[in-house]
Amino acid sequence: MPYRVAVVVSGRGSNLVALCDAIVADPDVAVVLVASDRSAPALLLAEHRGIATHRFESHQDPAEWCDLLARYSVDLVVLAGFLKMVPSEVVTRYAGRIINIHPALLPRHGGAGMYGSRVHAAVVASGDAVSGATVHLVDEVYDRGAVLGQATVSVQSGDTAADVAERVLMLEHRLLPAAVRAAARAGKPVPFDFS
Ligand code: GRF
Repeated sequence: MPYRVAVVVSGRGSNLVALCDAIVADPDVAVVLVASDRSAPALLLAEHRGIATHRFESHQDPAEWCDLLARYSVDLVVLAGFLKMVPSEVVTRYAGRIINIHPALLPRHGGAGMYGSRVHAAVVASGDAVSGATVHLVDEVYDRGAVLGQATVSVQSGDTAADVAERVLMLEHRLLPAAVRAAARAGKPVPFDFS
């Protein structure tokens, strides 16, 4: 039986695609569901790959989440560009089984409102010489759960937020599959090495 992954999204879905591509020949892990709070491009990408999709009627309703995750026998929930909070009842029920990818080196540049280009603008504005991506466990507070793995990129003087965003995204596309593969091997999300 493969380890069954649900990916929850709000946007374009490049991490979803990278994850699917990375595990396509791996019999031990499968993306069985993609869910979104809105009609996101990522849902179409999932449909084209023959993956079941779900648009939440109410992303704040824990029963909708729990029914859905139970229906697809989900082992792991991956937040990949999901812009809303996971209901706290779901976080409790799936404690230790929900991970998120964030486009910076948490605990720097995380928290409510820190997503997308805002993150990279903050990196540039801070004069950081290094940025990167983080995979972490999800708890009730945005971007606070235990860090499982990180990867870094250098930030050059003169880089724009868009430059940093592009570099970090390439890295995310390798970091997230590494996190999911490590989770599949261990049967739950675990700290993993990335190099
Ligand atoms: C990524 O940068 C991810 O780190 C953040 O949201 C973005 C999603 O991008 N949480 P995509 O939809 O996977 O292309």
